Amino acid sequence: MRSDWMRECAMETDNHTVSSNSGAIALGPVGRIPPGEGRCFKIGARQAAVFRQRDGAVFALQARCPHQGGPLADGLIGAGAVVCPLHGRRFRLSDGAGVDNELAARSYPVEVRGATIFIRGLEQP
Ligand code: FES
Repeated sequence: MRSDWMRECAMETDNHTVSSNSGAIALGPVGRIPPGEGRCFKIGARQAAVFRQRDGAVFALQARCPHQGGPLADGLIGAGAVVCPLHGRRFRLSDGAGVDNELAARSYPVEVRGATIFIRGLEQP
């Protein structure tokens, strides 16, 4: 039986568009992510946890915690880090480095152009 925390990403991007000049993938309006929260996006077979700080800064990390696969998008964010909801390890939003542990989450370049979120690097395994 699947645990609840192993559920699929909530945000599907089946009709995502790829920017012709940068290869960035559009994830849709930044308003899909409430300030101070994260959302998991599914892009084809790939997933990413995208976070929007209250100051407007947007970051993206691998969807699953490098410890035991917790859903990072569901974690609390603050002080530039996300707290994994499973066991509480913290990862820096800017680069995925472990704040209080030696693990690291992969980070993805992400930006907001106009009101649209774009992510790069998801094509790499
Ligand atoms: S799964 Fe994230 S801290 Fe254990």
